[in-house]
Amino acid sequence: MKKSILLMLVLLLGLGSIHAQPMIWKETEAEKTQRLKWWTDARFGMFIHWGIYALPARHEWVKTQERMTTDQYQKYFDHFNPDLYNPREWARMAKKAGMKYAVLTSKHHDGFCLFDSQYTDYDAPNTPYGKDLVKEWVDAFRAEGLGVGFYYSLIDWHHPHFTIDQVHPQRPNSREEYAKLNEGRNMDVFRKYLKDQVREILTQYGKIDIIWLDYSYPGENGKGRDDWGSVELLKMVRDLQPDIIINDRLDLKDVPGGWDFTTPEQFKVESWPTIDGKKIPWETCQTFSGSWGYYRDEMTWKDGKQLLVLLIESVSKGGNLLLNVGPTGRGTFDNRAVEALEGMGDWMKYNSRSVYGCTQAPEGFEAPEHTLLTYNPETKRLYIHLLDYPLTNFRLPGYKGKVKYAQFLHDASELQISAPYGHHMQGSISTENDLNLRLPVRKPDVEIPVIELFLE
Ligand code: GLC
Repeated sequence: MKKSILLMLVLLLGLGSIHAQPMIWKETEAEKTQRLKWWTDARFGMFIHWGIYALPARHEWVKTQERMTTDQYQKYFDHFNPDLYNPREWARMAKKAGMKYAVLTSKHHDGFCLFDSQYTDYDAPNTPYGKDLVKEWVDAFRAEGLGVGFYYSLIDWHHPHFTIDQVHPQRPNSREEYAKLNEGRNMDVFRKYLKDQVREILTQYGKIDIIWLDYSYPGENGKGRDDWGSVELLKMVRDLQPDIIINDRLDLKDVPGGWDFTTPEQFKVESWPTIDGKKIPWETCQTFSGSWGYYRDEMTWKDGKQLLVLLIESVSKGGNLLLNVGPTGRGTFDNRAVEALEGMGDWMKYNSRSVYGCTQAPEGFEAPEHTLLTYNPETKRLYIHLLDYPLTNFRLPGYKGKVKYAQFLHDASELQISAPYGHHMQGSISTENDLNLRLPVRKPDVEIPVIELFLE
């Protein structure tokens, strides 16, 4: 009896180690927080989706949406010549908007590489433009003091060994046809290509702050960690760039060190995302309109206030915003993007203190109606963003005894803490636990005014 229990134990331990997760990166919670600190403090970055899909100008997925063959798609490569490309201008616009870092698509799903790759001819130097686009970009963004990151697509609709799957332009109409179509395609070859290219982008351009590997869709006719060789790939990434910050789309969510932050895309999270009850680092990526790549006729552009709310709301839930621009085939930001960035910059110029270094408000601070709260734990200041401007009396529920001083953030003008103002108001405003701020009747000339509270 005893013997058999022992045997079972040995077997279980053995099985356990077979299934044990590979450890990619060993680091304490505190070390990770420290490594990510510049990024969590920054809160606001620019995503840039740029490639030859800027020419069709109807979504970066156009090749697969219209089921184009590589031959049919070739005309965009042959005509790609962004003669107005000036990444210094881009960097200046990002900085003026208040962004602290940027992430550029070094390669997107169509397989086109903006960088000079020794492993393919399908790159910028072989287009009429004739040069590596990434080198200039990295130099320009660094010169403005911005963090630099690369998006790199795991998916590749150009590589002849990338097997045809459910999102591939040549996907068949029935399940039975996949095997036949994939005869002669060998993912081992592709996996090596992927690793070689990631090594290229992480060794040719100096220190890279962020890598965005995109994306996994495991399951039948999908792709996941084994297809990418995610574990090995990530080990190499951590090896080459130990300080780099990595997104979570490699299908390694359950592997220690397999990701740094989560990436809710094109929606607002209800609350700070958690795993096993623990709050995790997060960054939402969002477009100005519905597409990531330049889309001439896309009209669903968010307005200035919506964009600011996206940023403020992210910070109020402890997250970052990565806001996307899709430059044109000439190499410029179109006017709608320029205006949107300027609008954000106008607001950030006076109000960025409620964004940088800020996070979710501490327990016990309730957000007054129609507001979003952010908090700077170092300065102990609480920020109330007025999404809908109130009338004179502004009640801070349960704030009594917690506030030393109050002012508008944009002009540092005092907001008096005083008895509610009005006539015949008996009983309508309680002051037992609440504070009342006296606001000017006229909304200040700020898209979203911010109240800065100095806490006790
Ligand atoms: C998705 C899309 C892609 C875009 C990305 C941004 O994965 O496939 O086009 O680059 O999201 O997060």
